[in-house]
Amino acid sequence: MNSGKIGIFDSGVGGLTVVRAINDLLPNESVVYFGDTARVPYGSKSPETVIRFSLEAAEFLLGKDVKLLVAACNTASSVSLPALSEFTDVPVIGVIEPGASAASEATRSGIVGVIGTLGTISSGAYQKALKSFDSVRRVIAQPTPLLVSLVEEGWLDHRITGLVLEEYTGPLIHEGIDTLVLGCTHYPLLKKALSNILGDDITLVDSAESTASKVAEILDDGELRSTTDSGENYFYVSDIPLKFQEIAQRFLGRTIPLVTQVELGD
Ligand code: DGL
Repeated sequence: MNSGKIGIFDSGVGGLTVVRAINDLLPNESVVYFGDTARVPYGSKSPETVIRFSLEAAEFLLGKDVKLLVAACNTASSVSLPALSEFTDVPVIGVIEPGASAASEATRSGIVGVIGTLGTISSGAYQKALKSFDSVRRVIAQPTPLLVSLVEEGWLDHRITGLVLEEYTGPLIHEGIDTLVLGCTHYPLLKKALSNILGDDITLVDSAESTASKVAEILDDGELRSTTDSGENYFYVSDIPLKFQEIAQRFLGRTIPLVTQVELGD
């Protein structure tokens, strides 16, 4: 089992923020990644559809010698975890609980904000997870559907992005949040732009980093840590790899020479 890989899936390229965090924290682990680029975005789709897509992604990854499965997509994590855990015996984790747990430790006032896709925020998953901690008194949840496109466009410092962020975060600031959960794979790339608007008094919680810590914890608990010296990454997508490879560098911090296109259900 220790020689197995960490299987990570996302609706597209965004889950590479989770791959990056896992590579940084656990360099000896090998990762197999599936990005459902043919069917992205998940954020605007119904829970039933997202659950079906998640199960198909899981089935594909489980065929690749996976010892732990990570739903890196916040939208998928918010609705699919029960179905995924029923589907397989390997440990399954999403990004919601680790993000909520990190926010519960960061907050001082107990007023926590969360931003995400329409699907993630409508599911109520972050709100429920955050409220399960005593330190969290109120949760202010805000769908921010325009941000995925702005990040994929590379407009991380663009003035339009600044305006959109000001519009979205206005109500959160007004409600007095002291912690903001970045509840979408793409938002860690907006940390700098968000800090410029929110200042130093609001802590940004990056679910990707908290998820990597949770992965390490599960590997330790199950004595599943890799015994090799260095891990490899393997990338699969469901549409032609070109656009994925173009954008991937921004998310992963380096180029990906080999990306394989697959058709789920094959
Ligand atoms: N990966 C998705 C998430 O974290 C964002 C992109 C999409 O809507 O599919 O929610």
